Parts: sequence; structure tokens; C-alpha cells
Amino acid sequence: MSSNLQDRTVVIFGGTSGIGLAAAQQAKAAGAQVIAVGFNAEGAERVAAENGFTGWRAADVTRPETIAAALTDIPHVDHLVLLAGTFVAGKVLEAEVDYLKRAFDERIWAAVHTLRALGDRMAKDGSVTFISGALADRPNAQGTAVLAAASAAMEAFARGLALEMAPVRVNTLSPGTTDTPLLARTLGAHRDAYVAALTEKLPQRRLGTADEAGAAVVFLMSNGFMNGETLHVDGGARLV
Ligand SMILES: NC(=O)c1ccc[n+]([C@@H]2O[C@H](COP(=O)([O-])OP(=O)(O)OC[C@H]3O[C@@H](n4cnc5c(N)ncnc54)[C@H](OP(=O)(O)O)[C@@H]3O)[C@@H](O)[C@H]2O)c1
Repeated sequence: MSSNLQDRTVVIFGGTSGIGLAAAQQAKAAGAQVIAVGFNAEGAERVAAENGFTGWRAADVTRPETIAAALTDIPHVDHLVLLAGTFVAGKVLEAEVDYLKRAFDERIWAAVHTLRALGDRMAKDGSVTFISGALADRPNAQGTAVLAAASAAMEAFARGLALEMAPVRVNTLSPGTTDTPLLARTLGAHRDAYVAALTEKLPQRRLGTADEAGAAVVFLMSNGFMNGETLHVDGGARLV
């Protein structure tokens, strides 16, 4: 699919699970040297070994010093993918402000710190891919206003950075609800009921898969004229 990823160095924050893992697997299949970064070191090491990735790192994207440490011995990066994050949910008048700030820390500020840590090690003919989500377009009243704002901010950030970092390309993937471990991590025992209620309303009557979202990440990396774009992989969820 993307022979131009052959032997390119691809660093994926969030590459140890879900969408990021699927992107990492597909980038590797396209010939890339993949380094997967996760929160949990043991998990990252195991996933990298299971999938034959070139390397793994552990970092907490809300702690800049751990981002810098994870990247310190990587000589250059052709494609950087920033998908690490959690589902930060809480109503503005109820949740702890420090918790709500996490939505921006995991996205905007993690991206700022990662790009600054890499500096000129980022290849000029390479790309950066961010994550947003359907909430950026379709908010709800269930305590997701701050996460929706952080997601929409990533899309605007990518457009600005595409100019600021040119000729490095900068894009955002906006997935609809995708069947990954994040759902159970977030919803616990309510996962199945939530999925059943949601899928009834969706045009495709199902969630997206990690592979479908991961393929879009690889497309954004490997298509040299995709720039400043937000690519929606949501099965038409924004239409209903
Ligand atoms: N799934 C969806 O429906 C959906 C929809 C829209 C947007 N998104 C966004 O897409 C991204 C990936 O989601 P996913 O569904 O693939 O989730 P996932 O399966 O839970 O994977 C999350 C990944 O991020 C890493 N991570 C989480 N917090 C981190 C931190 N503080 N520092 C470093 N790494 C961290 C995890 O590492 P460990 O495995 O070591 O914990 C894991 O690799 C998230 O930002 C999520 O908000 C997801």
C-alpha cells in the first residue's frame, strides 16, 4: 500500500494498544522501522516483541521530561504519530479542574513537548499525525465538552503547524467510536450496553475497527500531498 514507508523511522505514541497498535502493525507491514511508545513499560516491551517492532519506549505524555527521555537516543524520525490518550470525561461545573486539564495536556501540550524534544531530528519530508475524534464535530451533554474542545483544538493546531513546520506535513485523524481497549477501560461493565445503544443509531450499525482507523493513519503518513487535513473515519456517524 505504501512502499514509501520502506525503512522509514515511524514513532507512534500510543502504538502499544488500539488505533496506535493497528497503525504500527500496518506501518511495519509497509516496511517501516516502528518504535511504539506506551505508558506502561512492560506492556510496551511485550507488544513490541510480539509484533517485531524495531523498538519500544515508555513515557507519560503529560510529563515532558519523560517524553524527552523516551526520544533521546532516536537519531531521526520520519513520521511521528501522536495517539496516546485517555477518555477525559467530566462536567465543567462538577469535575476537578486539574482532571479536565488533562484532556489538553494529553493532546495539545503533549504534542508541543514532543515536537520541541525532537527539534531538527524530525525529517523535513516526513509527517506528523495527531488524533481528534467525533466529539470535535458532534459534542454531547455527557461531560465531554472539554474533551471536545481539546479534540477540535488538535485539528486547528495541525493546520497551523502545517504552515509553521512546512515542508513537514501535519494532519489529524478523527475517528468515530472505535472498538479498542479504551472502551472497556473507560466504561467498564457498561461497555456492552453503551455499544448496543450507540450502534443502533449509526449508519453502519457497528463501531469502527482499530484496523480501519490505523489504515487511515498509514494513509496520512504515506500520501505525500496530505497536509493540514482532518481525515474522518467514522462510518458516517457525523451525519446522524
Ligand atoms: N477508541 C475510540 O473510540 C476513540 C475515538 C476518538 C478518539 N480516540 C483517541 O484515540 C487515541 C487512541 O485511543 P485507543 O482507542 O486506541 O485507546 P487505547 O487502546 O486505550 O490506547 C491508548 C494508548 O495510549 C497510551 N497512553 C495512554 N495514556 C498515556 C500517557 N499518559 N502517556 C503515554 N501513553 C499513554 C496507552 O499506553 P498503555 O497501553 O501503556 O496504557 C496506549 O498505547 C486516544 O487519544 C483516544 O482518546 C479514540
